[in-house]
Amino acid sequence: MSTIISLSHIGMEFPSLDGTGSVEALNDVSIDFLENEFVVALGASGCGKTTLLNVIAGFLRPTSGEILHKGAPVTGPGHDRGVVFQKHALFPWMNVVENTEFGLKLQKVGKEERRDAARANLGLVGLTDFENYPIYQLSGGMQQRVGLARALTCNPEMLLMDEPLGALDAFTRETMQELILNVWRQTQKVVFFITHSVEEALFMATRLIVMSPRPGRITHEYKLEFYRRFFESGDARAVKSSPEFIKMREEVLSIIYGEEVGEQMP
Ligand SMILES: Nc1ncnc2c1ncn2[C@@H]1O[C@H](COP(=O)(O)OP(=O)(O)OP(=O)(O)O)[C@@H](O)[C@H]1O
Ligand SMILES: [Mg+2]
Repeated sequence: MSTIISLSHIGMEFPSLDGTGSVEALNDVSIDFLENEFVVALGASGCGKTTLLNVIAGFLRPTSGEILHKGAPVTGPGHDRGVVFQKHALFPWMNVVENTEFGLKLQKVGKEERRDAARANLGLVGLTDFENYPIYQLSGGMQQRVGLARALTCNPEMLLMDEPLGALDAFTRETMQELILNVWRQTQKVVFFITHSVEEALFMATRLIVMSPRPGRITHEYKLEFYRRFFESGDARAVKSSPEFIKMREEVLSIIYGEEVGEQMP
């Protein structure tokens, strides 16, 4: 499988808030994102997950290391990488289809072509009947589906999602996990997905990276296949309650919370 995005020895330092030193948000992070991978990042708050996503998106220039897109240096944001934010990223004065086609409008794509693309992606996320709705009339889950359709409409190679389901209730969240996996299967994108939920990470990832804070680095990596069981059976709950899943969940929990507890011990 070919490499789409490659990060080598990425470091990111921010000036500390008191102005006296610096915070090492990322330290020597190296990772390749291969075609059609679904990579999930887990880790305690402040371990650099969002910083890593911002570096990949091209919103932040790393202070050291190199980031390449198919061999060419990444120097800023690009249409090859689409971002889905946690919330508040839709324009309230535009309706569903206008929000969805917005990226293509910026790219000066003609009205008919961009509307067709937006409609196709609204279909993919199950919102065909809602294209004329104002954003404020949609539930949180539906708004996230618009955010996903909007990112997909620019036809990126890679989707970057920073806790996209973090603000949803438990039931909607599980439904959205299944929807995102199905969209991923149909569109074959490379995905980088951040979450605080170990269960969500294990369920969705083809590869899981666990990060630790101060300095932010990747400490563990797992190849996973629970998503495949979901595609086979269609029964997410059965996958998540299987003995193998629970064993893995406890292992990852002990890594994340074990490290945090360890830091606080005298
Ligand atoms: N623009 C910035 N200026 C200064 N420090 C920053 C900046 N952005 C992030 N940091 C610091 O870098 C570290 C990593 O932050 P980051 O937001 O990447 O963590 P995170 O893993 O996404 O956390 P969370 O799970 O809470 O979202 C933190 O210590 C944070 O305070
Ligand atoms: Mg974050």
